[in-house]
Amino acid sequence: MITREQNERLTRVGPGTPCGELMRRYWIPFAAVAQLDDNPVRKVRILGEDLVLYRDKSGTLGLIGERCLHRLVDMKYGIPDQNGLRCPYHGWLYGEDGVCRDRPMETSRGNFAQKTKAYPVQELGGLIFAYMGPLPAPALPKWDLFVWPHAIRQIATNVIPCNWLQCQENTGDPTHSAWAHGEFFRYVLEKQGKLAERASSELHTLHDRSRLGDGIKELFACPTEYGFEKGTVYSKELGAAKDQVRSHSTVIFPFYTQTDVVGSPRSEFQIRVPIDDTNTLHICYQCYSAPPGVELPKQNRIPWYEPPTHDEKGEPILDYVLAQDAIMWAAQGPITDRTKEMLGRTDVPIVFLRRQLDEQISRVERGDDPMNFFRNDPGMLHGNGQSPESHWAAPDWARKKLFVSAGFRQMFHKGFYKDDTDRYGPDIELVKELHRRIEEYEIQANREEALT
Ligand code: FES
Ligand SMILES: [Fe+2]
Repeated sequence: MITREQNERLTRVGPGTPCGELMRRYWIPFAAVAQLDDNPVRKVRILGEDLVLYRDKSGTLGLIGERCLHRLVDMKYGIPDQNGLRCPYHGWLYGEDGVCRDRPMETSRGNFAQKTKAYPVQELGGLIFAYMGPLPAPALPKWDLFVWPHAIRQIATNVIPCNWLQCQENTGDPTHSAWAHGEFFRYVLEKQGKLAERASSELHTLHDRSRLGDGIKELFACPTEYGFEKGTVYSKELGAAKDQVRSHSTVIFPFYTQTDVVGSPRSEFQIRVPIDDTNTLHICYQCYSAPPGVELPKQNRIPWYEPPTHDEKGEPILDYVLAQDAIMWAAQGPITDRTKEMLGRTDVPIVFLRRQLDEQISRVERGDDPMNFFRNDPGMLHGNGQSPESHWAAPDWARKKLFVSAGFRQMFHKGFYKDDTDRYGPDIELVKELHRRIEEYEIQANREEALT
């Protein structure tokens, strides 16, 4: 439980708020490059600010205030020009620096002194990032999945109708899996009459997840260079299959979590970007890597999609993992009232997450740089602190029966494509083909080994 003031401090993101000022120290992903395919001008809302994103005819991206300075027409109707965006009403032209470069029909046409709001933007890994804080802007961190060389990718986004922190606290919550993706998943499939069809195999997600609730001894959380890691300690004596420590997804401060590790057949950033105080842009950045020796299916560009959250009758779709998470976040209310919580031992990592967020807000208040604010180009970063060579770097990867045999084949054959957002992905057939090639390669390598 925290006080009302603390809850406000950690959740509000508008200009001048403590958390809003922290957020304005980061490059914020807010759209996929592919979203500009159909229309090069889009209205966007980030940290409670209404803006217009555009790509002009020279290919330059701009992110400017939503209203024309002349008579306040919404620039989402703007016309991309050679060097900027023109208002459709009387043709005033704005550059990516917010300067009004041309005012047709006026006596003094260019270099109009007044500027509209403008923020720097950059592209990386198929995403567009904005920096909305004090200049000079820091370097844009190249977190591993954005730049990993031998992989194909998909980007899914959803608007979740609640505060960003509820979404991010999900990563401080390893045990929700047992219920939200285990028992609740079972209940949803039972109601649909699809339990046997979808989950007859013991390998299915819901069975695996349900067992994560058995034999919990304790939960832990500890800081890392880029965020924190956490997990669950299981005890055989208390009913777990064996004594073990299971790590949960890695956290990259302030709003990333990463499932699995770079270089694996499927790894994902889940990014919780505050649109405003009560809406969050949830980005699933999905990265499917191939080992050396396996040719990647050809991907022309990184596609974008919006997984449906409701069916044609307006009922929530609940039979895949992200949908189960998202409905829980929204069901906590627009900004959950943390003064009324009753936390338990499973919430230890959530307490850690809040404390880390509070500490970083305080750093900005003191005038210091917060965590993951890089004044110089950080090059390629590995968010989980793990060596990028951890998978498949050795030429005999397939013979080593590492992750591939132990986990990936199970994941492939249990058909994870049906159980998460991936099933809606425009390039899911390429992903399946990649995974088929990985398996084929492994079988072949093992056969050759058996013959020698
Ligand atoms: S309102 Fe935009 S140019 Fe007149
Ligand atoms: Fe989840």
